[in-house]
Amino acid sequence: MSTLTKKDFLSVVRERHSVRQYDPSVKISREEMQEMLTEATSAPSSSNLQPWRFLVIDDQALKEKLYPIANNQAQVLDASAVIAVLGDMEWYDKAEDIYTQSQEAGYMPEEVKQKMIATANQVYRHLDDSKKRSIVDIDSGLISMQLMLIAREKGYDTVPMGGFNHEKFKEAFNLPANYESIMLIAIGKAAQPARQTVRLPLNQVAFWNEIN
Ligand SMILES: Cc1cc2nc3c(=O)[nH]c(=O)nc-3n(C[C@H](O)[C@H](O)[C@H](O)COP(=O)(O)O)c2cc1C
Repeated sequence: MSTLTKKDFLSVVRERHSVRQYDPSVKISREEMQEMLTEATSAPSSSNLQPWRFLVIDDQALKEKLYPIANNQAQVLDASAVIAVLGDMEWYDKAEDIYTQSQEAGYMPEEVKQKMIATANQVYRHLDDSKKRSIVDIDSGLISMQLMLIAREKGYDTVPMGGFNHEKFKEAFNLPANYESIMLIAIGKAAQPARQTVRLPLNQVAFWNEIN
């Protein structure tokens, strides 16, 4: 049972803002980073196939290498780390591992396991590239949001970044051919608060039963 009350959770949600100025003296230990990433992996994914991969960049020289690739955005240099959220475009190759673990844990009967593996091999593997990309993007987006909220709960600030050159990133950080960069998330402690932002009123974005 979670010890978080509804109010605590909503405070975390409300306190998350995109911070772009970080205290460069703050370091996040590998242990704490692993803890946050582990918690984040409870995110849902299509058929639980978990296409996300992470490259945590906390070495200053590598952050400097990333800086021009990420449009010289200052948070790349000053945040404690930049987490590159990557998508494995051959994520269905882990189907057998995942469903075998589920079956061995007693969460999935053998028959269901076999069906799930067959679906991964017969359906996911043969989707066209844009459909594959869409699944990987959606699942990676869900874990990214979850990671940013977990970071906030632990007192850290984040900013998601799409403003970088994906091809140059792939080359500079030697990504395997089947890995695509989805987004970068700078994480650390704010030196300056985030800019305030507005949201469209609900009646412009939510509809009941028909779009009007
Ligand atoms: C996919 C994505 C890409 C973004 N890329 C950048 C970026 O490259 N640089 C940046 O400073 N902010 C970036 N942002 C942050 C948005 O500007 C920010 O989320 C938005 O203005 C709302 O502000 P808030 O996050 O403080 O609520 C990005 C956000 C998302 C979701």
